[in-house]
Amino acid sequence: MALTKQATDYMKAVYIEEFGDSSKLRFADRPMPRANPDEVLIQVEYSGVNPVDWKIEEGMFKNFLPYEFPIILGWEAAGTIKGVGDNVKNFKVGDQVYTYCRKQTVKDGSFAEYLVVDGKHVALKPKNLSFAQAASIPLCALTAWQAIHEAIKPKKGDKILILGGAGGVGSFAIQIARDAGCYIYTTASPKNHDYVRKLGADAPIDYNKNNVVDAVKTKEPNGVDAILDLVGGQTLKNTIPAVKKNGIVVSIVDRNRPSTITNAETKFVNVFVRPDGQQLKNLTEQFNKGTLVAPEIEELPLSQTAKALEKIKTQHTRGKIVLRVK
Ligand SMILES: NC(=O)c1ccc[n+]([C@@H]2O[C@H](COP(=O)([O-])OP(=O)(O)OC[C@H]3O[C@@H](n4cnc5c(N)ncnc54)[C@H](OP(=O)(O)O)[C@@H]3O)[C@@H](O)[C@H]2O)c1
Repeated sequence: MALTKQATDYMKAVYIEEFGDSSKLRFADRPMPRANPDEVLIQVEYSGVNPVDWKIEEGMFKNFLPYEFPIILGWEAAGTIKGVGDNVKNFKVGDQVYTYCRKQTVKDGSFAEYLVVDGKHVALKPKNLSFAQAASIPLCALTAWQAIHEAIKPKKGDKILILGGAGGVGSFAIQIARDAGCYIYTTASPKNHDYVRKLGADAPIDYNKNNVVDAVKTKEPNGVDAILDLVGGQTLKNTIPAVKKNGIVVSIVDRNRPSTITNAETKFVNVFVRPDGQQLKNLTEQFNKGTLVAPEIEELPLSQTAKALEKIKTQHTRGKIVLRVK
């Protein structure tokens, strides 16, 4: 195990010892993680913030994912490799990488100075992006890729309605759907319409003022080929009539088929993103070529994780929030 020597056996991390609100967050020393032979040790520069982080903090996933306290929060990061396990052949110390690092047991996350993660879940970061931009990508871009290319599988010219296009996942979903040749309707607040248009949306819809189904049906009387739902709940239920009878509804929020889907021909799929270093590597190539661009980002220091979680909880983030760790 070619580990570079660490000056200390401890690192700073943000963690919880019980579920609850942000008053339960601890920002203190934790033991340095040790990489096993399949893992790499990453010195984290930036870590991306996602809605899942406050959901984990508050225990919303406790019946769904195994966990062990203390839990260091955070599921994605960009940084530099400081150690490489014996079985990892495709990375070396000094490589600048990024990763979606969800593990079998929710325990050792990325809101920390160091992170160990399976080498198969890591990719070189895009050369033209900063660490801050790179940290905003892995979880959301993989989610959008898997939802569009593995679940929806659109044909060129398909019409898609993306619910919540200006957020973390939406910022990538619009670009990926655009590259697949889709015509894109997306819901967003008016202040975000220029942002979603710049990413490739054809028809932004102000969901606060308009009935989304009517707005879509005026142009698509039979409905769109696919709804990609990034919001869930009543919003998704209300929007179901906007999809074609033999269309597909993919939700990354709701696990169960919405009760408002009354047509048996309408397909429903829930997507829960899985880590995939190879897919992330393919995405890196697209960022390097400039066919994908990083979302708008807001930076906060790791010491302000509570503020970052409060902000993401409002559900009105444009692009992504990232935490500066180093
Ligand atoms: N299953 C998975 O693998 C997976 C992966 C990633 C995320 N998720 C989940 O997917 C959801 C979205 O994640 P995210 O990272 O994109 O969140 P996010 O960045 O917090 O998304 C915020 C966006 O949601 C929009 N929004 C809020 N309420 C809306 C409504 N009623 N109608 C339309 N748009 C609305 C906001 O739009 P405006 O500000 O323009 O109003 C904002 O741009 C979260 O619940 C998250 O936990 C699941």
